[in-house]
Amino acid sequence: MENKVIRVAMIGFGGIAKSHKRGYEKLEKQGAPVKLVAICDIDPEQFTKAQAINLEGNSKYDLSGQTLYTDLDEMIAKETFDMVDICLPSFLHKEYATRMLRTGKHVLCEKPMSLSSADCEEMIATAKACGKKLMIGQCLRFEPLYLFLKNAIEEGTFGKVKNAFFERLSAMPRWGFEGWYHDTNRSGGAILDLHIHDVDMVRFLFGEPKAVSAIAYDAETRWAVINSRFMYDDDKIVVATASWDEAKSTKFAMPYRVNFEKATVTQQGGVVTVYPAEGEPYEAELPKADRMAEEIRFLAMSILEDSENVKNPPESAMMTVKLVETLRESIAQKGATVAF
Ligand SMILES: NC(=O)c1ccc[n+]([C@@H]2O[C@H](COP(=O)([O-])OP(=O)(O)OC[C@H]3O[C@@H](n4cnc5c(N)ncnc54)[C@H](O)[C@@H]3O)[C@@H](O)[C@H]2O)c1
Repeated sequence: MENKVIRVAMIGFGGIAKSHKRGYEKLEKQGAPVKLVAICDIDPEQFTKAQAINLEGNSKYDLSGQTLYTDLDEMIAKETFDMVDICLPSFLHKEYATRMLRTGKHVLCEKPMSLSSADCEEMIATAKACGKKLMIGQCLRFEPLYLFLKNAIEEGTFGKVKNAFFERLSAMPRWGFEGWYHDTNRSGGAILDLHIHDVDMVRFLFGEPKAVSAIAYDAETRWAVINSRFMYDDDKIVVATASWDEAKSTKFAMPYRVNFEKATVTQQGGVVTVYPAEGEPYEAELPKADRMAEEIRFLAMSILEDSENVKNPPESAMMTVKLVETLRESIAQKGATVAF
């Protein structure tokens, strides 16, 4: 394994793939043992057009270091690679992840893991049967803005959490392959596509809730705006909101506010501010890590070292999809408390 470099092929080169591409460029500059060697997208225009997604704005990219394909079978036949990075629309995740695992590749697959927890179980079983690693791109687990909270909770830096509020607010996505975001059957609506980030983060920070209560309304998809409450054994209040129904002129926003015993911590526009119970507020100093680069590095290293993925295992990504299903049960009962 000495000097081994993990060779990666990407499938799907739409909106989020461009952020992954930037991640690979950063990793290569840093000399990380991972290299993006090929990309496949059925739409060749994706290799030339600039992409604007709510999250990041326009991106520029240089594809001179990758071989480009519009046919997956051809890429599999011609390329040598260890790992595939699936950036396909959500309704294709299970089909392509299981296919690539069976082809003998390790798989990084974008969130949400799939449209149902039954699909997720099949993906995990396939990874086990094939002896390959599967990781889902729950990228906030690699984002310094949220790792600051994780660390504060684990270290008890500011005492216990008393209440926590997470938001993820966006206009309806205006890009997307054949309008898939607008079709609840293919995207799962904002609850599965957008809210899933905070549902996963709540579990990552606080563990499994004992019950949930949620309300939602439909707009351009079902479950376009959601407000969820996560209940624990203690009486802390944990609430998350997501929206695909903000005005078109708004910018994507993902603020949070967590109130600990000894400080309130807020994050707005990528700035984490600590307001101590005693003393002056200050801005937290955070590492300048790119969450996409870090999740790719993490999986590549765990392949190289054959280490167990305790930070972001697929079983946990499946539980996050299960929790979304439980939130939908509560929504169907107009916000009734449903055990998890
Ligand atoms: N982690 C995040 O923060 C984040 C942000 C945005 C999107 N996502 C997720 O990433 C995934 C992709 O989202 P997106 O916005 O990039 O979608 P997109 O529609 O912009 O891109 C999908 C790409 O897949 C291509 N494609 C479709 N079918 C194909 C096939 N059979 N073979 C090869 N290529 C095919 C399309 O041509 C398109 O270029 C979704 O699951 C989405 O939820 C994650």
